[in-house]
Amino acid sequence: MASGVEQLFQPIGAPAIQRCADCSSEYSETISTAVCAACGGLLEIRNPAPADASGSALTGVNLRRTFAQDLGARTLGRGSGVWRYESMVMPGAGSAITSHPEGNTPLLSRAALARYTGCDGLLIKHEGHNPTGSFKDRGMTAGVTQAVRIQASAVACASTGNTSASLAAYAAQAGIAGLVFVPSGQVALGKMMQTLSYGARTLIVRGDFDDCLRLVQESASELGVYLLNSINPYRLEGQKTIVLELLQQLEWEVPDFIVLPAGNLGNTSAFGKALREAFALGLINKLPRLIAVQAAGAAPFAKSFNEQFTTRYKVKADTLATAIKIGDPASHNRAVQAIRENNGLVLSATDQEILAAKVVIDATGVGCEPASAASVAGVRQLVQQGVINATDRVVAVLTGHVLKDPGILARIHQETEPPPAGANRPIEIDADVRAVARVINSLRTIH
Ligand code: F0G
Repeated sequence: MASGVEQLFQPIGAPAIQRCADCSSEYSETISTAVCAACGGLLEIRNPAPADASGSALTGVNLRRTFAQDLGARTLGRGSGVWRYESMVMPGAGSAITSHPEGNTPLLSRAALARYTGCDGLLIKHEGHNPTGSFKDRGMTAGVTQAVRIQASAVACASTGNTSASLAAYAAQAGIAGLVFVPSGQVALGKMMQTLSYGARTLIVRGDFDDCLRLVQESASELGVYLLNSINPYRLEGQKTIVLELLQQLEWEVPDFIVLPAGNLGNTSAFGKALREAFALGLINKLPRLIAVQAAGAAPFAKSFNEQFTTRYKVKADTLATAIKIGDPASHNRAVQAIRENNGLVLSATDQEILAAKVVIDATGVGCEPASAASVAGVRQLVQQGVINATDRVVAVLTGHVLKDPGILARIHQETEPPPAGANRPIEIDADVRAVARVINSLRTIH
C-alpha cells in the first residue's frame, strides 16, 4: 500500500477528474458517459487533495477536525452523513447538492449477535437507517447531485430493488425524470412499492438483473439518459462515507475486520477507495481486513477469489437474497484491488446460513433484509474457522431494512409448514378475555 496523496489526488485547488481505472485515460468531471471512451473500462473520481480555506493541505488530525465540525452543516446537505465528508466526496458540488439528508447511521452492539457469531467485539453498522432504507442513499445523493450539476434531463438504473427505490426518491427531490429497469418477479415487495410510489417510470424486464444492466447501459448511451448504477463513479464517492463514518464513530481506531455483503461489487470497491484515501491522508494509520460475502448461489467473485483472481467468472444467479442475486458483477476489477489491498477475503454463505443469521438479527429487534444478513453469516463462518478471534473488533455492515422484503417475513413467520426455526406464528383468538388469558398462561410456561 504505497500510494500517497500525490498518487491518489489532484493538486490542491485543481478540478476533480474522472480517470479510467484500466488505461488511465483522463476526462473532465462533467462528462456524462459511464465508461472510458478509449477502452471501455470503468471510471473513477480523482478529487483535489483536501485543503483549508487558505489552500493549505488538510491531512491527519486537521482533516479529522473538519469532519468533527460537520462541514456538511454549512451546505444544503445539512446534517448529512455523506456531505460532512464533502471534501473527499465532491468538493465542487456547491448548490447542486441534493440531500435528504442521509447517512449518520448507528453502530450497534447486541449481546445476542455476539453470542451467535462468537465475536464479542462485533459491531453492526446499520445502513437500513437511511431515508429509503438502504445504503444506496449515500451513493444516490452524490449521483443525483452530479446529475443536477450536468443538467441531466433523466436518470436511469438497473436494480434488484434498492438502487431503484433510492434513485426514485432522489430524482423526485431533484425534479429529474427517473427510469428504472428491474428483473421480473425478482424484486422484493417493499422495494418495488417504494420505487412506484416515489414516481420513477418502472420497466419490468423479462430477464434477470444482469440482463437489466446490459439493457440500461445500451439505452443510456443511445438515449442520452444519465446512468446511475454503481458503475457510475460518483455513486462510489458517496458510498465511501459508510467507511469514513464508521471510522469516525470509532474515533479513527481501525477495526480488525470490516465485513459486507457483495453483489455487483460497487460497495466493495467504494470501501477499498475509502480505505486507500483515508490511509494516504493519514486519517488512519493501518488498514482493516476487508471481507466480502456473497450468496452461495450468486458467488462468481468468491469463486474467482478462491483461484487468486486468475479468472473472472459469470454465473446464473440463484438466491433468496434477491438484492445480491447478480451473476456478472460489473465492478469486478476494482473490487479485486480493494480485496488485495486490504488483505481481504471473499466468502459465500448459503441461503440457509443467510436466513438463519437474519432470523437472529431480526429477533434482536435490529432487523435487516436477507442480503444484509450475509455479513453476519460471514462473521460466524470466520470465527468458526479461527480467522476471527472472539476479542477482535469487527464491524459488519447491514445494508438494508427489515421491511424491504415482507414476502420473506411472511414465509418465515406465517406460511412455511412446518414452521422453520425462529418462526413467530401469530395466534388468532376470539374477542374474549379468556382466550387472552390462555395465551398469557402459555407464555408463562415458555419463559
Ligand atoms: N445489500 C443490499 C441490501 C443491496 O441492495 C445490494 C445491492 C448489496 C448488498 C450489494 O451491493 O452491488 O454494491 O455489491 N443492490 C443493488 C440494487 C444491486 O440494485 O439495489 P453491491
